[in-house]
Amino acid sequence: MRILVTGGAGFIGSHTVISLIENGHEVSVVDNLVNSSEISLKRVERITGHKVPFHKVDIRDREGLDKVFSATHFDAVIHFAGLKAVGESVLKPWEYYDNNIGGTLVLVDVMRKHGVKNIIFSSSATVYGVPEIIPITEECPKGKCTNPYGQTKSMLEEILSDLRTGDEKTGDSNPWNVVLLRYFNPIGAHKSGLIGENPNGIPNNLMPYITQVAVGRLDHLNVFGNDYPTHDGTGVRDYIHVVDLAEGHVKALKAIENKCGVAIYNLGTGTGYSVLDVVKAFEEANGVKIPYEIKPRRPGDVAVCYSDPKKAERELGWKAKYDLIDMCRDSWNWQKNNPNGFEE
Ligand code: NAD
Ligand code: UFG
Repeated sequence: MRILVTGGAGFIGSHTVISLIENGHEVSVVDNLVNSSEISLKRVERITGHKVPFHKVDIRDREGLDKVFSATHFDAVIHFAGLKAVGESVLKPWEYYDNNIGGTLVLVDVMRKHGVKNIIFSSSATVYGVPEIIPITEECPKGKCTNPYGQTKSMLEEILSDLRTGDEKTGDSNPWNVVLLRYFNPIGAHKSGLIGENPNGIPNNLMPYITQVAVGRLDHLNVFGNDYPTHDGTGVRDYIHVVDLAEGHVKALKAIENKCGVAIYNLGTGTGYSVLDVVKAFEEANGVKIPYEIKPRRPGDVAVCYSDPKKAERELGWKAKYDLIDMCRDSWNWQKNNPNGFEE
């Protein structure tokens, strides 16, 4: 298929571009590089041996997007472009609603103008709020999001689903197909060590924080809370290798081909690990010590969040292959080979 990947220069996008190319798809990328570097795409080209057409366009730029869709007919869009820092979204709500919701509204308007009505959207386990069921199935009711970032994901799920409903009610002959992928906690990196996660400033997320401690950029890890009702008191999450996540997008194209209407899938491993489990696995996989200090709980964190990923296996034939040791090894391989990310 011919696929347009928005946000394709970013962490998950760049890995997905590789999986798509390896599975025979033709890929173009749109990204405004607000949180990424074009070097990641150069490295994707090195890894795959394929040229990746790149358009430096903001998805809020209607004319810019229109040109991209006029030049190439796409079968589907995989939509990663968005801002994703939870804490920042509390301080800059307008910027998050404008970029994530405003941007997606422009994107889908340009898509429908060009008759492209297949979209795979990057959603998040954050839409479950404090989950009512563990492990979390797709039937688990959505919960209250505690921050504007989470709200944008939850609202965009509704907006994209409503597009399909509208088409059904009006009997549109080319109705939308919408796949909502709810990611759990993506970590790891491509085995080449050429691409990986490259956060700006001090990382908010656990694994990039750990790798920056390991590489000596940060002194120690702060563990946010050791009094949760979990096996060691620290928060439990479903970490998933980014290459497994990327493969999930390739499999999700199957749902599009089968004219799925609206389909929702959790992408996780189904296993929860605590913060201290991750520290231990990182030390074991890489032979590097990670000093840590216990700190108070981080506001907004839940105790336990992990998926039931069986629906994706049943319907898409997708299952995560990599374990926590693989994720720790590949995260470190990326960081140690690129201590300053994509700055060459
Ligand atoms: P990322 O920041 O590395 O990638 C997002 C990309 O989108 C970046 O390259 C950025 O430059 C681009 N972008 C942002 N706004 C844009 C705009 N207006 N126009 C064009 N490009 C724009 O983040 P990621 O971790 O790869 O996440 C990808 C998607 O997955 C995001 O939508 C994110 O919210 C979602 N997600 C991520 C996680 C996670 O933990 N990483 C979890 C759940 C969901
Ligand atoms: N943690 C620490 N110290 C740190 C960073 C994190 O102890 O320096 C702990 C957290 O308290 C939590 C766990 O490590 O228990 C994981 O935290 P992350 O920040 O890595 O991930 P979250 O589960 O909080 O959130 C991530 C993304 C969200 C996404 C969510 C579900 O940041 O955008 O996964 O997919 F919505």
